[in-house]
Amino acid sequence: MTDLLAPLRFPNGTAAPNRLWLAPLTNQQSAPDGTLSPEELRWLLRRAEGGFGVVESCAAYVSPEGKAWPGELGVATAAHEEALRPLGAGLRERGALGLIQLFHGGARASRALSGIPTWSASTWEEGPDFEAPRAASEADILGLIEAFRLAALRCARAGLHGVELHGAHGYLLGQFLSATQNPRTDGWGGDLLGRARLLRTVLRAVREAVPADFVVGVRLSPEDRGQASGLDLDENLQLAAWLAEDGADFLHLSLWDGRENTRKRPDQHPIPLFREAVGPALPLVACGGIWTLDEARALMDLGADAVALGRAAIGDPEWPQRVAAGGAEPKRPPFSDDQLVAADVSAPFRAYLSRFRGLTS
Ligand SMILES: Cc1cc2nc3c(=O)[nH]c(=O)nc-3n(C[C@H](O)[C@H](O)[C@H](O)COP(=O)(O)O)c2cc1C
Repeated sequence: MTDLLAPLRFPNGTAAPNRLWLAPLTNQQSAPDGTLSPEELRWLLRRAEGGFGVVESCAAYVSPEGKAWPGELGVATAAHEEALRPLGAGLRERGALGLIQLFHGGARASRALSGIPTWSASTWEEGPDFEAPRAASEADILGLIEAFRLAALRCARAGLHGVELHGAHGYLLGQFLSATQNPRTDGWGGDLLGRARLLRTVLRAVREAVPADFVVGVRLSPEDRGQASGLDLDENLQLAAWLAEDGADFLHLSLWDGRENTRKRPDQHPIPLFREAVGPALPLVACGGIWTLDEARALMDLGADAVALGRAAIGDPEWPQRVAAGGAEPKRPPFSDDQLVAADVSAPFRAYLSRFRGLTS
């Protein structure tokens, strides 16, 4: 078993100091124009101080029309790049590796925020609160690839160590992967090869643009869950193998509950399946429902190379030092307001967290 505190080396040679990641967590604390706020900087640096070897940002929009909620971080302009600099420098000073999660909302972007009608792989209806997206033109798709490429370059110039392409949870890249949302017949949809083409092209375009030591990974939902729909486990295993060939530095599996086996094969856990698909060399990061050291170790034993903590890291920023290195008991929700203030969780973030049942008191 690999120790959670051992360094993790990516295929491009860059190393993280340990295998404990802060999961990408939307926190709605960015300025209205999408620039990183002092509160968001503090929230992230605090987790690096607490011992997380890799600190991921929340989902950050790569182009204005991809913005999906108020207070979302942007990585779409020179001003956004400038605002990220203290984060790049601060994480380096604290010895952590910083990744920005690159995102476009697609059908789940907000016209109310951007003033721009939404688009996706195709158009579909979902209900009264959903604005049916327009089907993307070839120009939209090429523009999107360029937006991801430029956003990754902004992150590199701002001193971050890498990016994660957000292919999970049913946002634009996931909408293109979906068999139900992407029936296109023009080479960007239809069969798996067509549906995977956008994510794979974005990955290769980013990889070619950034310096060789800049880490480029992908987050996926292995199967349908919530907004992520039209996904098939076996298709995602094939996709994972392609992403390894295309030069990904890691694959991050969003599991929500790491104890669960797959729905398609109830006797099999996703981690060994993805390990077999990608081979031994590609780091696999697993996330979902980790509170205790045993829960983290269980996912490593199944074949993960690193684990990401979301909710546990909100109330317990020193989890790596206290629990993984010190053997202390993890802090459990509900987290009180005082506890969250002490953990550098600002008022807008606390307001957002109150929507998650059982997390705050
Ligand atoms: C408040 C909150 C915000 C989240 N924001 C994001 C996000 O921006 N991007 C993303 O990929 N996942 C996001 N997630 C999912 C988490 O990264 C993680 O996969 C999930 O919370 C399960 O891990 P946990 O049990 O350790 O919390 C969010 C989850 C929560 C609770």
